[in-house]
Amino acid sequence: MKSRIVTALAALAATTLALTGCSAAGSGSDPNNPNQLEAFTWWVAGSEKVGLDALVNTFELQYPGIEFLNASVAGGAGSNAKAALASRLEANNPPDTFQAHAGAELTDYIEAGQLQDLSQFYADNGLTDVFPPSLIERLTVDGKIYSVPSNIHRANVVWANTSVLESAGLDPKTPPADLNAWIDDLQTLRDSGIEHPLALGTDWTQLQLFENVLIADLGPDQYSGLWTGATNFNVLGVKDAVADYGRLLDYVNPDYASMEWDKATQLVIDGDAAYNVMGDWAEAAFEQAGQTYDNQYTTFPTPGTDGVFDFLADSFTLPVGAPHEQAAKDWLTTISSVDGQKAFNLAKGSIPARTDTVASDYPAYQQTAIASFANDTVVSSLAHGAAARIGWSSEISKAVSKFVQDRHPDALVNTLIELQANKG
Ligand code: GAL
Repeated sequence: MKSRIVTALAALAATTLALTGCSAAGSGSDPNNPNQLEAFTWWVAGSEKVGLDALVNTFELQYPGIEFLNASVAGGAGSNAKAALASRLEANNPPDTFQAHAGAELTDYIEAGQLQDLSQFYADNGLTDVFPPSLIERLTVDGKIYSVPSNIHRANVVWANTSVLESAGLDPKTPPADLNAWIDDLQTLRDSGIEHPLALGTDWTQLQLFENVLIADLGPDQYSGLWTGATNFNVLGVKDAVADYGRLLDYVNPDYASMEWDKATQLVIDGDAAYNVMGDWAEAAFEQAGQTYDNQYTTFPTPGTDGVFDFLADSFTLPVGAPHEQAAKDWLTTISSVDGQKAFNLAKGSIPARTDTVASDYPAYQQTAIASFANDTVVSSLAHGAAARIGWSSEISKAVSKFVQDRHPDALVNTLIELQANKG
């Protein structure tokens, strides 16, 4: 199973590199020039690029002598970037720092000896005291920490167009209590003339929606147990989730397969759909479209997941063999600083990983996320690398996308059980 995954990643890497033409040589990185930083992310366009720019601006203020080299590879949730990165790391050609998700996603890099231990960096900068324990726990592997988080995103959020809801006679201030009530509302919207009220996009957004339904039907403890082995995929709640997921899919736009997340979210911004389940990077897209919270759009936790914070964090690393190690440490210092986190998160829709945050500095949506992260049960996102290692989550993703096409519930459940037995 594992070699199949590695082969698949290598093939994807080759295609990605061919498509983007992206390589270290292309970024202008010169190992003999210490005043450079080559950073690798997947924030290439739209609101995500605005977030990266905010971070880079702060870096350039704090370290004016260092040239920022952008080695990013487009594709939401790192859909192309992860394979491109894997091939650079394999070729001993690492960038100075790369974006990854805090949690299980880092396991493969750590086991392959591709990341430097940053425990001393944490100690030198007092970082263990400024990040919350639930985050430090997800960052720590065998007592060591290998990345620095720039933010915390929430992945169980429904983004809703208020006037579309009102036109169908639904009250935007009263979210559906559970999945059944939500499906009733989807039918009400369809009856009102919105044929495809639930906006969906490409593979990873399908996986993210599925993870939301798993949380709703299993509850946070059983859902978390899927990743530790405490919950077997062979439980009733998983079968219920697959059935509920199928019912939700009856209401999605038919052109989902080719749609990046921002296009799916745009359907809600434009009033062509009522809802999109998306991580809160969508907040930045609504803001950029000039819409205001609780006016043109609103949010609520995915029905059935109220009281749960589906967590992920964008985190930056120091690869072994980074050509500009000091500049990479400077970058990590910026992203973990009060100013860096504030500039980035105001632009990105996420909340700071640091606990010394003044909630009132943030817009209305982010205030709800800050309160939820502080008070709710935190679970790890599957689609965004926190819950399972890359091989396992990408195999689940394939199985879920297959289900979206063929709708064979037993086949999906059996594959999930088999993947859990092999951990991917
Ligand atoms: C997530 C990432 C976010 C955002 C999103 C869409 O995986 O953590 O920062 O970029 O993908 O691309």
